[in-house]
Amino acid sequence: DLGYFTFDPGFVSTASCKSAITYIDGEQGILLYRGYPIEELAENCSFLEVAYLLIHGDLPNEQELNHFKFEIDDRAVLHESLRVFFDGFHYDAHPMAMMVGVVGSLSAFYHSDLDISDPDNRYICATRMIAKIPAIAAACYRHSIGAPFVYPRVDLDYCENFLNMMFSRPEKRFLEQARSIDETAVKALNLLFILHADHEQNASTSTVRLAGSTGANPYACIAAGIAALWGPAHGGANEAVLSMLKEIGTVERIPEYIAKAKDKDDPFRLMGFGHRVYKNFDPRATIIRQTCHEVLRQSCQPDPLFDLAMALEEYALQDDYFIEKKLYPNVDFYSGIIYKALGIPVDMFTVMFAIARTAGWVAHWLEMTGDTGNVIGRPRQLYVGPSQREVMPLHRR
Ligand code: SDX
Repeated sequence: DLGYFTFDPGFVSTASCKSAITYIDGEQGILLYRGYPIEELAENCSFLEVAYLLIHGDLPNEQELNHFKFEIDDRAVLHESLRVFFDGFHYDAHPMAMMVGVVGSLSAFYHSDLDISDPDNRYICATRMIAKIPAIAAACYRHSIGAPFVYPRVDLDYCENFLNMMFSRPEKRFLEQARSIDETAVKALNLLFILHADHEQNASTSTVRLAGSTGANPYACIAAGIAALWGPAHGGANEAVLSMLKEIGTVERIPEYIAKAKDKDDPFRLMGFGHRVYKNFDPRATIIRQTCHEVLRQSCQPDPLFDLAMALEEYALQDDYFIEKKLYPNVDFYSGIIYKALGIPVDMFTVMFAIARTAGWVAHWLEMTGDTGNVIGRPRQLYVGPSQREVMPLHRR
């Protein structure tokens, strides 16, 4: 009993580690970052304030935030030799494949970080990762369209910088282009990054902690987290939602696909629905749903997929199977639709998730590496194989 939160002994026995970063109550639909409700953070903070909170344990004051932004700006530019890395990728390489490779290669460029015994060095690694991940992500996209890479700028905030590195034209910045969605895009992205910043011991964060517990360098650990996030059951779900909507195609075919999702013998799952922990509405989905509808209203590109997504949401929320099994839209259902409305290509959706989750990953890595009592994560198993038996010589097998 921690005084304010009490856990049943059964829960404590399954916990993979102790952490003070994020608290989730799956039954009540509660999500706290360092004790602050996600709803209040989404309403009142920038993504950089939340990244600071996850790492330092409290929200920054103005001076602390300005210094944090200076540290991020100071580490945002990519090493020129690292940019050459992209020339080795075919133009149609999946951006997540490039992310895993390029982030892992940071350990080849920052040898001084390989000694992580010094806490100041660990903090530099963490801020360098948060600083560089948007530039690496934007470079993946620019490589795929054969466009020149755009440098980060100190006069833009974190989300504006990313959009500028993604979409600006040599002749002028993205935000000056005549697109009514600019301000909405920055606001929506800031919200999406906050909602995706951390989520307790999800698969990719557990991967980062497990890799980090061996003393591996931080860039290798984050690359491992990116690889785990790519799976369609995890961070790849937002990309899978759009593929599913394209496969369903029309509102008339929704009942056919709802039936497939309910059929135990059919491997089809309704992407963007259900969650391992939330057995009621994912609180992030509740927040993001309103923004999704707002972005669609402002979107200058009406898209039948958006109408289909809203019809599917309505249909599933009224279906007995989904109600009975408490399968509600999760954060990935709405994020994919918003990213598409912002002009982000579908194969970049999980990359967007990785940009945001890097703040959580590095916060957990710092927490784990700073914990002197930390031992190597070494999960055990329930052995269900054959009992001991004798090896027979080949001629008698
Ligand atoms: C993320 O862990 C995290 O925190 C992850 C994440 C984060 O921020 O890091 O929140 C991000 O990964 C969100 C989840 C994104 N994935 C998807 O949207 C993919 C579709 N969802 C399913 O794959 C599924 O819901 C899981 C994998 C997310 C959860 O699966 P579980 O643990 O089996 O869910 P459950 O125990 O609540 O399932 C209850 C029943 C089961 O059927 P029965 O065995 O009872 O007959 O509901 C079924 C499931 O088979 N079910 C679904 C379903 N999800 C669960 N049936 C149809 N469609 C679905 N989407």
